[in-house]
Amino acid sequence: MSAEIERAASLLRAGALVAFPTETVYGLGADARNPAAVAKIFAAKGRPADHPLIVHLPDTTHLTHWASDIPEAAHVLAKAFWPGPLTLILKRQADVPDAVTGGQDTVGLRVPNHPLALELLHSFGAGIAAPSANRFGRISPTTAEHVREDLGEAVALILNGGPCSVGIESTIVDLSGPRTTILRPGMLSASEIGRVLGRVPDIAGDPLAAPTPRASGTLAAHYAPRTPLVLMPDDSLPITLRNAIVQKERVAVLATFPAPFNHPLIEWHVAPADPAGFAHDLYAKLRELDALGCDRIIVQKPVGQPWQAIHDRLKRAAAGSGSR
Ligand code: TXA
Ligand code: MG
Repeated sequence: MSAEIERAASLLRAGALVAFPTETVYGLGADARNPAAVAKIFAAKGRPADHPLIVHLPDTTHLTHWASDIPEAAHVLAKAFWPGPLTLILKRQADVPDAVTGGQDTVGLRVPNHPLALELLHSFGAGIAAPSANRFGRISPTTAEHVREDLGEAVALILNGGPCSVGIESTIVDLSGPRTTILRPGMLSASEIGRVLGRVPDIAGDPLAAPTPRASGTLAAHYAPRTPLVLMPDDSLPITLRNAIVQKERVAVLATFPAPFNHPLIEWHVAPADPAGFAHDLYAKLRELDALGCDRIIVQKPVGQPWQAIHDRLKRAAAGSGSR
């Protein structure tokens, strides 16, 4: 166990915040049993206090400390996908602090798949409550530098594990009721989950229509850059860019294919053409394009089932974008 991990664990014991890498995005961690420490997360993020947090666990044996009435499906999914990019929503144990659950009768749990996160969790030996380590509503961090830019002084320590391998947040599966529902899509797909469970999970309805979302990552406007962002089918891109040039607009583009033409007003960035590669780079790219200060960011609209979670994040980024 490195000295830095030990320091991080003792900071958590003392009620301080520690940011740490996971395979999905960086988390802003606090001792999940300490309501005063958890309150610091909400203050640092500027996040409404009724939004529940995910409790990160060292391994599956800790499930019963946090969840009650655990259905067989939870054990099946945990065995198949933990450690990994999957969060389970389960009925909570009575002693789980309201600060963590947002006062709901359920709790979100996950064992992350990152060596530093697992070392920290084992050294700490208990649950770490951690949302993504960004200011509320902004783009999730996938490097330690992103965390420093967003939260800086509010965090006692940032563990640097390099860029996150998955790049977008975990798939959230609600098993707290009679049905199995995906509340937030992730790179672990509904079909992989369905294959292991032997039944197809429900997908939560369009959050644009839901008045009180249970998951903040499902708010319509989320993961948002300051520059207005639009999604556009690949075949509409060239004509849109020609028009933008006529209007003297500066446009940043993220697409999986090279620029059809070059122009000083167009900043064209090529993204990986496979979903895993695209997700890996997505948040760092959005931050980079946002920092260019263009009039608009145009992202090629992703199409098809393997791109579902990426499309979900991009739609929310578009909905929340442009608030400078
Ligand atoms: O990949 C991830 O899940 C990352 C890393 C750090 O683990 N964490 C993350 O946390 O994305 P956050 O707080 O940004 O998003 C967690 C989502 C929120 O939308 C929250 O509302 C939802 O999980 N959530 C947590 N507990 C819940 C519960 N009991 N019921 C419904 N939704 C819950
Ligand atoms: Mg988040």
